[in-house]
Amino acid sequence: MQKLTGMEWLKKHISKLEFTSSKFKKEIEKIKNIQPEIYNEFQPWTPLKLVLLNYALDTCTTIIRRKEFFKKMYYIDLFAGSGINKIKGSNDFLIGSPLVAVLNYSIDYDLMFFCEDDPDYSSALSARLAYFRKSSLKPIPKDCNLCLNQIMKVVNNQNVYAFFFVDPYFMEFGWDSMKKILNINRNYTIGRDILFTFMSGVIIRFIGLAKKGGSEGAGLTKFFGSESWKNVNSIDEAVKLYKTRILEETPQTVVKTIKVKSDKHGFCYHLFFITNKTKNANPWLKSIDKAKREIEANSDKSVELALDLIYLLT
Ligand SMILES: C[S@@+](CC[C@H](N)C(=O)[O-])C[C@H]1O[C@@H](n2cnc3c(N)ncnc32)[C@H](O)[C@@H]1O
Repeated sequence: MQKLTGMEWLKKHISKLEFTSSKFKKEIEKIKNIQPEIYNEFQPWTPLKLVLLNYALDTCTTIIRRKEFFKKMYYIDLFAGSGINKIKGSNDFLIGSPLVAVLNYSIDYDLMFFCEDDPDYSSALSARLAYFRKSSLKPIPKDCNLCLNQIMKVVNNQNVYAFFFVDPYFMEFGWDSMKKILNINRNYTIGRDILFTFMSGVIIRFIGLAKKGGSEGAGLTKFFGSESWKNVNSIDEAVKLYKTRILEETPQTVVKTIKVKSDKHGFCYHLFFITNKTKNANPWLKSIDKAKREIEANSDKSVELALDLIYLLT
């Protein structure tokens, strides 16, 4: 079979999300009408992030579900939002990360947790998830940094697989929390993967401001878990520092980063894919490397293509 590259590769994976929307059209229509006045407003980069979430979940879930070793599978979305996203200044809607995961993968996961600390978003999300009538779906209306211990009690057990999606607006996920989810696999009987949105463009601007004395930088120290951000001078250095911090904390980990940049829309962020080193050299890392090559080679175009998705739900 001919290998797909470039735009063809992207179109194929975007179409999987389109497929979700058309396959579950009826359900999505009903869910959209639950508290219709409540939605997250999103930026042009949101659809591409969801394509990557779907891609990473698809890759990992397909491999893990075949392994008898894992007795339980958990999905944890720590910055879940309301479940429905709307593009600013338009009437175009898109499903949010909780619905991408629930519609496609709830059959595979024993429990799925969704933290959201905004009262309106969390109440709309709870009502939307209730539509599915599944006791495995657990909305948690709290700050994820404060409820992680509660989630860890369930997840940090032998023969468990856990997939974390960590998608803050900015630096709301402190280093102490990152350490908790990095360290759950210390005894090697737990599989855990993390997809983390690292808002590199805004973070570097904030570092610049802090260095000029415009802010104290306490937030940056809490986010990086050290004052080493003071030596950072560029986006690439910020990404390298965070990656180094992860590897210092958990040397048995593999970290892949995907840069999403749009000159047209004037933003840049990175997605970190964090997994455990395994004896068979992590077969799914090849898939993540492929996503990295295709997205980084076609950055602006990838964002545009994924943005077209929003018309699906109008
Ligand atoms: C970027 S949006 C997430 C969007 C969602 N993941 C999606 O793709 O549809 C970030 C969300 O996290 C929520 N949030 C911010 N800080 C939080 C915290 N400390 N704990 C839980 N939720 C938080 C915000 O209210 C917002 O809805």
